[in-house]
Amino acid sequence: MMRQILIGMTVSAFCAGAAVAQVAPEAVAFTEGAVEQSLSGAAGNPEEGKKVFATAGLGNCVACHAAEITKDIPFPGTVGPTLDGAADRWSEAQLRGLVANAKMTFDGTIMPSFYKTSGYIRPGDAYTGKAGTEPLPPVLSAQQVEDVVAYLMTFKE
Ligand code: HEC
Repeated sequence: MMRQILIGMTVSAFCAGAAVAQVAPEAVAFTEGAVEQSLSGAAGNPEEGKKVFATAGLGNCVACHAAEITKDIPFPGTVGPTLDGAADRWSEAQLRGLVANAKMTFDGTIMPSFYKTSGYIRPGDAYTGKAGTEPLPPVLSAQQVEDVVAYLMTFKE
């Protein structure tokens, strides 16, 4: 019994710590499109980021972007520019800003914003076909943004 209480306390203390470190979508600070601070308060994992990049229900970046380094991911799209050398062109903070809200870097871009809860033009309610009401959950979690940024940091030429 005592042991269960102790475990419970440890878990909630851990969660409270994580909640403090995490930056909420509406609190992200952009400086000319770039975001200096880790959104999750933790480092990204490039392996997980590759999944975010490749998975349709997550980033689905591959639907619009190809790159030499992603050539094992099938069906790359060509709507967006190829991302070869993205980490040479952009800093980590700029890449984080691009993934969180690309409109802060490219005015009017069709690239989706992956970490925002409002300001959508025609939001849908998941796959119900109904209109959604804001605030909507962000497409990616703070950690998923960090993971895909860590993956992008490996795109060097
Ligand atoms: C619907 C298509 C689309 C999707 C999905 C998309 N992007 Fe983009 N992305 C674009 C377009 C278009 C641009 C070029 C910016 C512009 O001029 O509008 C771009 C630009 C970029 C750039 C800067 C290009 C450069 O110089 O390297 C990066 C980095 C990037 N995207 C990463 C991502 C990542 C990571 C994801 C997934 C989390 C993603 N994009 C999802 C369309 C997309």
